[in-house]
Amino acid sequence: MSEKKQFRAIKGTRDILPPDSALWNWFERQARDTFEAYSFRDIRTPIFEDTDLFARSVGTDTDIVSKEMYTFAASSEVGSEGDQMSLRPEGTASVCRAYIEHGMHTLPGNVKLYYGGPMFRRERPQRGRYRQFYQMGAEVLGPSDAPGIDAEVIEMLVVLFRRVGLEKTTLYLNSIGCKECRPKYVELLRGELRGVKEQFGADSQRRIETNPLRVLDSKLPEEQPIIEKLPRISDHLCDDCRAHFGKLKDELALRNIAYEENWRLVRGLDYYTRTTFEVTAAGLGSQNAVCGGGRYDGLVELLGGPPTKGIGFAIGTDRAILSIQESGKLPHLPGLAVFVAWMGLKAYPAAVAMARKLRDCGLIVELPAEEMKFKKSLGLADKLGAKYALIIGDDEVASGTYTLKRLADANQQKLAEPELLEYLESERRGA
Ligand code: HAM
Repeated sequence: MSEKKQFRAIKGTRDILPPDSALWNWFERQARDTFEAYSFRDIRTPIFEDTDLFARSVGTDTDIVSKEMYTFAASSEVGSEGDQMSLRPEGTASVCRAYIEHGMHTLPGNVKLYYGGPMFRRERPQRGRYRQFYQMGAEVLGPSDAPGIDAEVIEMLVVLFRRVGLEKTTLYLNSIGCKECRPKYVELLRGELRGVKEQFGADSQRRIETNPLRVLDSKLPEEQPIIEKLPRISDHLCDDCRAHFGKLKDELALRNIAYEENWRLVRGLDYYTRTTFEVTAAGLGSQNAVCGGGRYDGLVELLGGPPTKGIGFAIGTDRAILSIQESGKLPHLPGLAVFVAWMGLKAYPAAVAMARKLRDCGLIVELPAEEMKFKKSLGLADKLGAKYALIIGDDEVASGTYTLKRLADANQQKLAEPELLEYLESERRGA
């Protein structure tokens, strides 16, 4: 006799159940509506791609690529013999790959795309950090790197966060230079870091050689005073990068967008140039970044495409939802409006027809498939949280008037079909 195995969701993954799923759908809808108002359009890319795509764009020395990707061998039958594939850890690389593959550089103006869906990183799971998590992201690709684009992308984010009621958000902003000035700064930084190497822990010591900028990301309290004394990128930007950053700040001022400059905001992906930003929100503890983004001029070229500028961001949907839930200020989402309580053989066809009409009016309607005594029906309607019970018995069918009971206060009214539909529809619009 084999023992029955209890299956559970795999560590770092989770089920999103009702009623939370309604909040998720609402949030994603708000994001789509906001992005579309800024003339971004949806792009859907595969969930797995060639591992090299991520290695080349995100960077082989980053945590994401070096230890967090879910990688598997591609089957030789599908024609990519010997190649490795990975579940996507983020969306920007795929969007750039699709931009090149479909020749989108020939489209007029800048190409503005948004996406939503699951991403995968083998991180240590904790509150707000999952191995399958969700992002809503947006990217602008094309010939222009005007700071007004950066500012508009940030404005879109601020507008969305306000719309969904995310609280106590802070926008952190930095410029990490370009391929002219950053390598010089990185060498300067590495030199300084080597001088104080002994004062750092093992992780930072390793990063001094592999990726010194990442040392600035350290959260270890004992490393903070040393980091504070290091040279800052803002003092080492080339003239073009300094001008670009200055103009971006003017553009943000024009839009009344508050931000804090943070010279240590270097981000964990290698493709960034110039503008980087992050947004934190309340109620999230240590994993408090709800959004990260920045400019990645040159990434498309690095992936074999034409010279292209790019900027974008991704919101961590799991964290945005957590923060909204923590605030306790949840949106009012439509629930079950009408429970059709029917009894009697003649009542059933009328109940089926009425349920369909009400649903056509946009109402959420529950119709029991089996006959129940009115008392039991009303009890179930109550438990399901229905706003109204529509009572249909043989008498109602004979008279053509129906009893509509508001469950909160047991108020009852008798209405003929046209009045009933009109009343419930106006209720719905007012709700
Ligand atoms: P990222 O900063 O790696 O950037 O991720 C963006 C957001 O995704 C984070 O701020 C966080 O809210 C969420 N996130 C990341 N990892 C996890 C996780 N393990 N669990 C839950 N949430 C997580 C990017 O992915 C870039 N592609 C953003 C971008 C787009 N830059 C330019 N364009």
